[in-house]
Amino acid sequence: MGAKLTVMISGGGSNLKALIDACANHTIDAEIIAVMADRECAGLNHAVSAHIPFYQIDRKLPREQFIDSLQRTIPEQTDLIILAGYLSIIPAALIDAYPQRIINLHPSLLPKFGGAGMYGLRVHQAVLDAGETQSGCSVHYVDHGIDTGEVIAQAEVPVHPDDDAQRLQQRVQQQEHALLTRTVADLCHTFTHKTNQQDTPS
Ligand code: GRF
Repeated sequence: MGAKLTVMISGGGSNLKALIDACANHTIDAEIIAVMADRECAGLNHAVSAHIPFYQIDRKLPREQFIDSLQRTIPEQTDLIILAGYLSIIPAALIDAYPQRIINLHPSLLPKFGGAGMYGLRVHQAVLDAGETQSGCSVHYVDHGIDTGEVIAQAEVPVHPDDDAQRLQQRVQQQEHALLTRTVADLCHTFTHKTNQQDTPS
């Protein structure tokens, strides 16, 4: 049986859409069982179209209430939590409850251009300001820092001399969809393999 995924978003949800498509065409052996957003966002429409249960837990709730709602809403059967453009800080208790089972997508070649305030176009502008000739994207495990967890996979994207932050962002996003899909497929394969081994009588 395939893995069970919960995807968390804050924005347009193009990476969520890539995951939905990859599960539908069996590139990923998994089912997305919940989509969670921390604000009203266009990405939730992808969950609606795919008939996936979705939840909006407002980041502006008092912190304790936010944490509590988040923990109660994430389905218990979740094997892997995927932060696909999710902008709120993940509570420590949730990280501890899912060791090496929460992953994040970041639009740079970590450890470069990560950390507090590094999201969206700011990342790409910082890459251009630093005169980098290569950028890219990373998928990493979530630990207690911001963008500091172990990197699982990366894809490189060239920076062109005439790039502005928007153009670079678009090129990186195309790679993100492929990188995230590939990485989640690999992780799900590992989960399924481990579960099958545990189910096999010795
Ligand atoms: C991506 O660029 C991702 O790297 C970052 O947020 C963006 C989300 O894009 N963390 P989308 O909502 O999946 O279109």
